[in-house]
Amino acid sequence: MRIDVLTVFPEEFAALDSGVVGRALQKGVFEVNVVNIRDYSADKHRRTDDYPFGGGAGMVMTPQPIYDAIQAVDPERKARRIYMSPRGRTFDHELSLELAREERILLLCGSYEGVDERVLELCIDEELSIGDYVLTGGELAAMVVINALSRHIDGVLGCSESDEDESFADGLLEYPQYTRPSTFMGKEVPEVLLNGHHAKINAWRMEKSLELTKERRPDLYEKYLKKKDEK
Ligand code: ADE
Repeated sequence: MRIDVLTVFPEEFAALDSGVVGRALQKGVFEVNVVNIRDYSADKHRRTDDYPFGGGAGMVMTPQPIYDAIQAVDPERKARRIYMSPRGRTFDHELSLELAREERILLLCGSYEGVDERVLELCIDEELSIGDYVLTGGELAAMVVINALSRHIDGVLGCSESDEDESFADGLLEYPQYTRPSTFMGKEVPEVLLNGHHAKINAWRMEKSLELTKERRPDLYEKYLKKKDEK
């Protein structure tokens, strides 16, 4: 899979170079191509923003550098083109699975007060939000999306980091985990986890997942019950 990211803050994506994602990128399991929109500005001062027509606070990203950058990285319109924006569809587990199956995606990161609407109409397929709050730019949102979808790409997680057991894989929150020591500050690890009885351990974990989900995310709990009923 190849992900093209268009941004005026390419240096922020250095955060992708470490950890699990960094290891996968180094191994070539998938590819992230970060493009500086400013490199495509036809303006003599390499400007990428201007005052909004109609007035108002802040600056708006001009269409020309974005249009040209997109044409340069995806001339044949092969990528699923996404603009990171609080106006978009909310990112979730299902969408992370869907995006991980794409051959190519392009993530446009807006900054300032937004992007000229015409370039979105001309070049972008959909908008995507990571939650109901406003960031100063789409860069962190793009990194959240890249991180979450990469976990579903074969070869990104090691065997010991399997994607299967994780929270949301079956729509439930994850059960509590413990490691050594078996007693810490007088607090014991639940007995069932210490006796090596795998069926009992799995049953306990399922029970805890259900309890936690019901208590903390009743919306997910209802969804889970409904899905189970349909099976
Ligand atoms: N850009 C600014 N805020 C955002 C959000 N919540 N999601 C995606 N992109 C954004």
